[in-house]
Amino acid sequence: RKRVAVLISGRGSNMTALIEAAKIPGYPAEIVGVLSNRSDAAGLETAAANGIPTAVRSHRDFPDRNALDAALDDVLRGWNTEIVALAGFMRLLTPRFTERWLGRMINIHPALLPSFKGLHTHEQALAAGVHLHGCTVHFVTPGMDEGPAIMQAAVPVVQGDTPDTLAARVLRAEHRIYPRALAALADGRVSLVDGRVMLTADTLDDEAFV
Ligand code: GAR
Repeated sequence: RKRVAVLISGRGSNMTALIEAAKIPGYPAEIVGVLSNRSDAAGLETAAANGIPTAVRSHRDFPDRNALDAALDDVLRGWNTEIVALAGFMRLLTPRFTERWLGRMINIHPALLPSFKGLHTHEQALAAGVHLHGCTVHFVTPGMDEGPAIMQAAVPVVQGDTPDTLAARVLRAEHRIYPRALAALADGRVSLVDGRVMLTADTLDDEAFV
């Protein structure tokens, strides 16, 4: 089983979805640690309640981004991390860090990339008037929300939706696809080759890919 560290900044519901998936026999990854940049992240308690080691490294304690990212890296190495899963981690990572983990670090973003990068994606989707919105699991590259997509799920936008109702609908889709995308990376069905996502033929058996 691949050793996965999860980086969070808050609630940690996607982290919880990964923890629950990893309890299922045969799941190809185990969650070996949860790292937060905020000590008040609610997800830290959920992780601890599941017996998973946690750590906090706050940007306030470091002079610059490189120093913080070096500290994050130390924690990840201490856990013998093989894959990093960002789950609502709300800080930009340095190019040095993203390059070190290239092909081994994934993120979930609450929009159908390349539409609606950055923050307030549900407001952005409502303002744009799209009828389909959703979420994307992608490899992390130096550009924010720019890495190639591994898996996406779409949800409808309906009359009367608010950012909150839309966020809740998208979040259910996030919890569905993030464990599947992580499993596909962990068992080698998905990889990053020359900046492009490679899917093996048997990923077509997983309906989340099609
Ligand atoms: C999720 O919707 C995730 O997609 C989003 O933050 C939320 C975290 O919720 N991530 C980003 O916006 C990344 N820029 P969670 O802590 O309950 O998983």
